[in-house]
Amino acid sequence: MAKINISDNIFAFVPITTQTILGSHVQGKANFMALGWLTRINFKPPMLAICVNKGNRSCDGILENKQFSINVPSKDMVAVTDYTGLVSARKTDKSGLFEVFYGQLEAAPLIRECPVNVECRVVESVELPTNYCFIGEMVGVHADEEALTDGAPDPDKVKPFVLSMPDNRFWALGECVGKAWQEGKGLKQD
Ligand SMILES: Cc1cc2nc3c(=O)[nH]c(=O)nc-3n(C[C@H](O)[C@H](O)[C@H](O)COP(=O)(O)O)c2cc1C
Repeated sequence: MAKINISDNIFAFVPITTQTILGSHVQGKANFMALGWLTRINFKPPMLAICVNKGNRSCDGILENKQFSINVPSKDMVAVTDYTGLVSARKTDKSGLFEVFYGQLEAAPLIRECPVNVECRVVESVELPTNYCFIGEMVGVHADEEALTDGAPDPDKVKPFVLSMPDNRFWALGECVGKAWQEGKGLKQD
């Protein structure tokens, strides 16, 4: 099968990412924005990296407070998640959109409606041409009881959705196709 060079689309391209809602404090008030650019980057202590455009008010808030939250919405929250990415705290107060609670970090507002919430303390801020990459240590994780199986978030219950780019579409998870660190074992030679 031929490989097609699609580098012209490279600006908009990301592999599929989990769609989340970033929480921060902007001028002392909770603020939320849709965030698709995040990944786990360290095992112990657990760390996440998020990439936030310098033009977003959330970026200013995180630079100021060095704290943020990652909230995982379920698929019935597609519209409100998208909305947080369409309007900015510059013009619109998003603090009342959700029921907010706090864990141990005072500037990392957590969204009660989201089944999973992570509190992060910034350990490094990397300035890139258009974005900041914030590396956050995960200092607390909260989850709805109904979203857990054996004490861990269960994707079947959390019902997260993912973002594809450049087509800019949200997708629900499909079927489970295998167990990681297991399925390949039969192919090992030794
Ligand atoms: C689906 C979706 C995903 C987004 N992902 C990101 C992202 O990963 N990083 C980012 O800087 N902006 C992202 N945005 C844009 C911000 O959410 C948007 O600019 C928002 O209005 C910023 O709000 P604020 O100024 O209140 O911080 C995304 C927007 C949408 C709709």
